[in-house]
Parts: sequence; C-alpha cells; structure tokens
Amino acid sequence: MKEIGIALLGLGNVGLGTYRILADHARDIERRLGARVRVRHILGRERGRARPDDVPAELFTHSIEAILADPEVAVVVELMGGLTPAREYLERSIASGRHVVTANKALLTTHGEALFSQALARGVDLHFEAAVCGGIPIIRTLREALAADRVSSIHGIVNGTTNFILSAMADERATYADALAQAQKLGYAEADPTLDVSGMDAAQKLCLLASLAFATRVSPQDVHVEGITSLLPLDIRLGSEAGYVLKLLAIAQRSSEGLDVRVHPAFIPSASPLADVRGAFNAVLLQSAALGASLFSGLGAGSLPTGSAVVADIIDICRNLLAGVSGRLPMLCPPYLQEAPRVPAVQ
Ligand code: HSE
Repeated sequence: MKEIGIALLGLGNVGLGTYRILADHARDIERRLGARVRVRHILGRERGRARPDDVPAELFTHSIEAILADPEVAVVVELMGGLTPAREYLERSIASGRHVVTANKALLTTHGEALFSQALARGVDLHFEAAVCGGIPIIRTLREALAADRVSSIHGIVNGTTNFILSAMADERATYADALAQAQKLGYAEADPTLDVSGMDAAQKLCLLASLAFATRVSPQDVHVEGITSLLPLDIRLGSEAGYVLKLLAIAQRSSEGLDVRVHPAFIPSASPLADVRGAFNAVLLQSAALGASLFSGLGAGSLPTGSAVVADIIDICRNLLAGVSGRLPMLCPPYLQEAPRVPAVQ
C-alpha cells in the first residue's frame, strides 16, 4: 500500500490528539484513502511533559533540518502555536515544496497573507480547519458547502475556555479562578490563557471566519474586542433571573457601511440556540441568503476534537496528492491573497 510521510511540529494537547487519532483510526483512514499515513518525525515536545508511552521515542527530533532533509516527508503539520518559530518553520516547509497544515490562528491572522501567497506560488496546499472551533468543520463549511451562498451574519461562541468558565460560573456557581484552572487542566486554554479571557483568541478566529464568509480580509485591528475578565458573578446571576444567559459572542455582520466585527460578552435570551451551548462546546449561527439560518456546534477545544480536524486536513491533502491535484489554493484562499478586495470595517 502506498505510504505518505508526515511530520508533526509540536506535541502538546493538539499534537498528541492528532498523533493518537492517526494511530487509533489508522485502519479507517487507510480504507478511506487507499494509502497509509505515517508519522515519520515529531519535533520537540512540551517542556516539563513526559513522553507519552504510546509515542515511540525514535520519532522525536529537535531539528527542523532533519525533517526537511527527509524526502519521504510530504506534509508538515504545525501544532506548536505562537509566531516564533512556527512562522519560520512553516515558511521553510512551504519553500521546500511540502504541503502544510496548521492550527495556528494567531499566525494566520498575522502572517496569513504572506503564507498563503507563498503556498500559492509554490503550488502546495495549506489547510487550517483546526484553527477555528476545534472539531466543528466550520472552515470547510464556509469555504466549500456555502461557497454559492451569501452570508449576511455570523454569531458564534468560538472560544471553549471562556464558555467553559461562564457555564461553570452560571451552572455550578464556580469562581472565575477555579473555572479557569479547570479549563487549563482539561487542555482547553491557550498556553497563555490571557488570549482566551481577553477575547483575543475569539477575535482571531472571527477574522478567519469573516474573511471566508465575506470574501474579504479581516484583521484583528478591525475587530472591537472585550473579554470576560471584568464580569462579576452578580452579572451572571441577574441576567439569569431575567431569563438571559451571558456568553462571549463573536459577531460579524454586513451593514450598509461595511462589515461590523466584534467580540464581547452579551446577554442572550435563554430561548436562543446559542444559550444552550455549554462547557467547551462552540457553536456558530449563520444567516445566509439561500440556506437561511444554520447552526454548527460541537466541541471547540480539546485534544481529540481539535486533533480530528487536523487529521481531516491531512487526509484532504493526501487525497489531493494521490489524485495529483495539489495546490488548489486559488480556489481556497482568495480572501488572504494580496489582491483580495477589502470590505471596510465599521469603526
Ligand atoms: N483556547 C482555545 C479555546 C482552544 O478555548 O477555544 C481552541 O482553539
């Protein structure tokens, strides 16, 4: 059976989830793909973390050079997070002709234009489903399933950590600090949880969603952002007594002046489909001209849900490789290319 070699950069929560899905679902993947996906290298591992028993020691390397020197590596999967050295490693992978997968929303919202342009020029695939809403296939939905529709608004709960905290404070009267500590323990929070609670993680995800939905390029500076750090238990309680649930919403909508993009806590009526989204679940409610209202929900954070989105991207790339149709980027990422039209953000 044909074998496609991949390298994982990073073995944190998402990296480990990715590795385990590739290992545990190997037979199903082989049947679907007609080829075997083999992890040939894993770059580094999180400091202070013991090597998991189920990951062979010989896969580990500390050298990107060793990975790029291996001609059997066709796909590089970046799960390190942060900008440095993730950007450099992705750029070097693309330059060497490797197809790439990343879950790095911070990197894509900061340097997406350069990365997509490089991938396009080199004729390689760059996939990023796991960058938004963990296991929910929302990038594919916007890019492919709704490609013919006209989206007018996005209302989403797109950060699992803050939703977990707000749910625990509302349902279990947990304190903010305890709920955050629990979200970190469960592997939902970013390495720096300030990104979650400040609303910045949600803003980065909203940029990717809005860029695809509205075929424009939305940057974090276009987004009005407020996090959950100044909320009080009393806010939650008073809202609940009045029939409302407090959620961190990510909103993008067309208006006559342009695109209104914002992230902030909002009281939503308890009858709203978003009110019932609890814990680390995410949900995205879209309004579009042809389909009307559509709701996408599922686990938006965590090792296996996010790992499954990464592996789906790997499988997609392998399909393209096997069919000889790699580098379909012009169809997949126009909003991120330089010449893409900009819709002005409402200030
Ligand atoms: N820290 C993120 C969250 C992880 O809580 O949603 C998934 O992107």
